[in-house]
Amino acid sequence: MADLDGIKVEKNYHLDEEFAATGNFHVKGAANLDWGMKKRLTNIFNPKSGNTVMFAFDHGYFMGSVSGLERLDLLIPRLIDHVDVLMATRGALRSSVKPGFRKGVALRVSSGSSMLNDDLSHEVIAVDIEDAIRMDVDCLAVQVFIGAKGQLESIDNLSRVINAGMRYSIPTLGVVAVGKEMERTDQYFKLATRILAELGVSIVKTYYCDKFEEVVAACPVPIVVAGGKKLPEKEALEMAYQSIQGGARGLDMGRNIFQSYHPAEMADAIGKIVHEKFTAKEAWEYYSGAVHS
Ligand code: R5P
Repeated sequence: MADLDGIKVEKNYHLDEEFAATGNFHVKGAANLDWGMKKRLTNIFNPKSGNTVMFAFDHGYFMGSVSGLERLDLLIPRLIDHVDVLMATRGALRSSVKPGFRKGVALRVSSGSSMLNDDLSHEVIAVDIEDAIRMDVDCLAVQVFIGAKGQLESIDNLSRVINAGMRYSIPTLGVVAVGKEMERTDQYFKLATRILAELGVSIVKTYYCDKFEEVVAACPVPIVVAGGKKLPEKEALEMAYQSIQGGARGLDMGRNIFQSYHPAEMADAIGKIVHEKFTAKEAWEYYSGAVHS
């Protein structure tokens, strides 16, 4: 059996060297995928910047109507032009979002718990691949609970979804879940992100942490960073900036956009960092100017 983490040999992430297996495609780790996969990944990652602003509003699948998401039918039309990808459940999309938009879609396909449970790590695959195809989505999002009681079933869910997605050229986005008992350390995120990539996901969603560059370097597919609990806008923009500086290929943000008093302006400011190389300060000035104009 292989050695446990880092006991014998010091690790070297070669932080001064770019990812070497890019081929001529703009998405990390996807050079050897087929045409359909590349088409869908291009609907997610802008070919010019290589990055994406994903807007996550899938919270209702276990939290119900959280603050800011009470009326999807009103919120989404206000935000859709300000982001690149909608990350949502099929129920939210079908019921509340008109289908005639030209943005990427990340469809949440795992579920199984609610805020009423102490342990959220037990999920099932809730969406058939045929329904994802009917909705013409660009990736399938599965929550994975590494180190939790539900680890085995969540890895089983993930593997089944990847296998189904592979049959029809739909990439899978693996979402690293952070439970109460899991620490948000680089060590944990290196473990979880690498496991997901090796299992075959095309995109990993995780959190920003210390030594984030090493997490990115060791993960052979693009990482998008989750927003987490609502922060003051200036801090959220700083976190977004640090994430992109650290090698993230985008943000997959929910509460820090939809719980802002100015969600569209916040999404635009995030987009400036993600696509236009704005610093956190420049993005904050842009945001402040936009909300006071
Ligand atoms: C993970 O559980 C889901 O994708 C969440 O709905 C999403 O990560 C939440 O986004 P945020 O933490 O930015 O509100």
